[in-house]
Amino acid sequence: MELKIFDTSDQLDQYAAELFTKLINEKPKAVLGLATGSTPIGIYDKIVDNYNLNKLSFSGVTTYNLDEYVGLTPDNDQSYAYYMNRHLFSRVDIPASQTHLPNGMAPDPQAECARYDALLNEHPADIQLLGLGHNGHIGFNEPDGELSAGTHVVKLKEETREANARFFASMDEVPTEAYTMGVGSILKANTILLVVRGSDKASIVKEALTGPVTTQIPASLLQTHPRVIVLLDREAGRMLD
Ligand code: GLP
Repeated sequence: MELKIFDTSDQLDQYAAELFTKLINEKPKAVLGLATGSTPIGIYDKIVDNYNLNKLSFSGVTTYNLDEYVGLTPDNDQSYAYYMNRHLFSRVDIPASQTHLPNGMAPDPQAECARYDALLNEHPADIQLLGLGHNGHIGFNEPDGELSAGTHVVKLKEETREANARFFASMDEVPTEAYTMGVGSILKANTILLVVRGSDKASIVKEALTGPVTTQIPASLLQTHPRVIVLLDREAGRMLD
């Protein structure tokens, strides 16, 4: 595991954006596993800056997102499809047909999970970007006695709904279920880029990276992956030796 702690969020964003830029230049048909939440926004902004400076093209890139809320349409501004268009896809030259998320409105959730897994199996990610939930979740793989390898529908924990309520008008509007890529698919990525910011995540960072590997902290499974890069700001890394 490669760990880097940055003095400022800006430096972290720049570093992560350079990683993506380098990968896409070396491999124009790269497959990216992408994430949402507040953590990656600055990284996407810096990637777009690089794109505007003609440092890279997304024309051959394919993307697969980690997760999507059940019941939100892509034009709902809280859906992850909307988020990805807003923060990245609409700002670069990626064809829409090369961007993928689970469809939150799919009539048959089981079929939707199978459809997404078939795509993921065919196109393993060169790099998978991950944020971290306060309870150690990755994507929407919540702490549990057992975890699913493939794409599945999760009932969101109340603590996760509360954490994400800041993006919605009220708690009632926060969906209760979401599709998420399973930990098996996440761990199949060639490289995993875990990004965490903020003092409030310092203790879960320490537990996930240095504690026992347990399904009760899904991010701890990353300890079993051969190529993980962890990027932290000072605050998130403050409990690490
Ligand atoms: C959400 C997302 C995760 C994300 C996490 C942290 O629930 N499903 O993919 O990593 O929460 O979000 P944030 O970056 O806003 O703290």
